[in-house]
Amino acid sequence: MADFSNIVILTGAGVSAESGVATFRGPGGLWEGQRVEDVCTPQALDRQPELVHRFYDERRAKLASVQPNAAHHALARLDAEWPGDLLLVTQNVDDLHERAGSTRLVHMHGELKSALCAACGIRTAWADSLPPETECPHCGTLALRPDIVFFGEMPYQMGRIEQALSRADLFVSIGTSGAVYPAAGFVQTARYHGAKTLELNLDPSEGSLWFGESRMGPAGTLVPAWVAEMLGR
Ligand code: OAD
Repeated sequence: MADFSNIVILTGAGVSAESGVATFRGPGGLWEGQRVEDVCTPQALDRQPELVHRFYDERRAKLASVQPNAAHHALARLDAEWPGDLLLVTQNVDDLHERAGSTRLVHMHGELKSALCAACGIRTAWADSLPPETECPHCGTLALRPDIVFFGEMPYQMGRIEQALSRADLFVSIGTSGAVYPAAGFVQTARYHGAKTLELNLDPSEGSLWFGESRMGPAGTLVPAWVAEMLGR
């Protein structure tokens, strides 16, 4: 593993599962009892702003009672010690990667601890509940919404991600079902550019066949072992 220099790592809800953050799909998943179209689309935000804001308020409040796990800490250690290029792209909207210490990090699906003004587009750090019709501190419009990329919206920093994928010689996917594009297609982009590909997941993801190597198990065990391999100790 040690002859790589440029790494792109994609994480999903599975990396935070052992911290007690619910995944989206599967038994006990976040969408059980809620249709995803009822909470995670621009149309739902227009139709039922109270429901959508309350849904994300609950997720934001939950962050106070969860901690980064061994997988987050191992990825932060890799970030600190890896001498080559490294980009950690997370689909997660929790803040556990940054609390563990990762800095070369992109939140492609937005962040719970941020509010987005639908009028001026400025993002504001946000820690508390966010009722509909909250005033934007920058432009004064009553248009703050959760800073979450809804279905049908463009994920953040796609240019930076595409560039990193085109230069990567190793792409690693951790704890994601591979059900949501464009993230689900990153493995194919990385392969196209010649990268080796590795999947670390509890079960085979929907795109499992695209990976050169798959290791199945909990992220809290697999990720520290893989990072130790990468750092040669
Ligand atoms: P999913 O809930 O779709 O998938 C979670 C994956 O993690 C599954 O493949 C599980 O097998 C795996 N998993 C569960 N526990 C694990 C553990 N302890 N260790 C390793 N793997 C484990 O979550 P995502 O793939 O992240 O988008 O979902 C992608 C996007 O769908 C989310 O970012 C969200 C949602 O709609 C937005 O909110 C915009």
